[in-house]
Amino acid sequence: MRVIIEPDYDRMSKWAADYVAEKIKEANPTAEKPFKLGCPTGSSPLGLYKQLIKKYEAGEISFKNVVTFNMDEYVNIPEDHPESYHSFMWNNFFSHIDIRPENVHILNGNATDLIKECEDYERAIEEAGGIDLFMGGIGPDGHLAFNEPGSSLSSKTRIKTLTTDTIIANSRFFDGDMNLVPKQALTVGIGTVMAAREVLLLCSGHHKARALQHVIDGNVSHKWTASMLQMHPKAIVVCDEPACDELTVATFKYYLDKERGNL
Ligand code: GLP
Repeated sequence: MRVIIEPDYDRMSKWAADYVAEKIKEANPTAEKPFKLGCPTGSSPLGLYKQLIKKYEAGEISFKNVVTFNMDEYVNIPEDHPESYHSFMWNNFFSHIDIRPENVHILNGNATDLIKECEDYERAIEEAGGIDLFMGGIGPDGHLAFNEPGSSLSSKTRIKTLTTDTIIANSRFFDGDMNLVPKQALTVGIGTVMAAREVLLLCSGHHKARALQHVIDGNVSHKWTASMLQMHPKAIVVCDEPACDELTVATFKYYLDKERGNL
């Protein structure tokens, strides 16, 4: 695992955007051979999306031949609800770039058959040839997408019930009212993310320090599902300094030295 430590949120976002843009350019995608990008929601990737939009506006990058698969979506809130992940993605990213709407994939949390929806989604990823780069965030309890503590580390796309921790954390988007937060979500599995060729996780802020400590310094555990990334051949965690508050000095220095080329 590669760990990039940046001083603050803005620089973390910039590092991630430069990396993602470089990967897309390097792949030189075409309509026949598009670049497949996994997309998260939440506050962690907002800065990254802003930076990617800037790059698009500056003519540095195009998303015409990029196919996206989102990580998750709440069950049973209208697609046009301001806090649905459909709304989040269009408002914060897709509406500002040249992506083709038919290349956007987001789970439908209102499908009549939710199990089939998840199976179809998994098949669509496979048929697209797999995901080249899966971006993601980390929940304060170490979850990845909506793979809550205790989720199978080889899980595929499915329905999950949200933990109280996540409902509390996400209530900030629902007027601080836990009762308004959907109780279930559709989410890609840890196995789905692990099947991507590369994974890039963002982790920012002191409130994520405990999760980051478990993900980087701890053991692989279904209690901190993002820790499974330790088993991925090409995973990067980009974080800011406040998120490193619980790492040992040895770990912190090791990753800084490694990136500075001192090791
Ligand atoms: C949500 C999402 C996750 C996200 C996490 C952290 O529950 N399902 O994909 O990574 O919360 O969110 P934030 O980045 O807002 O802290």
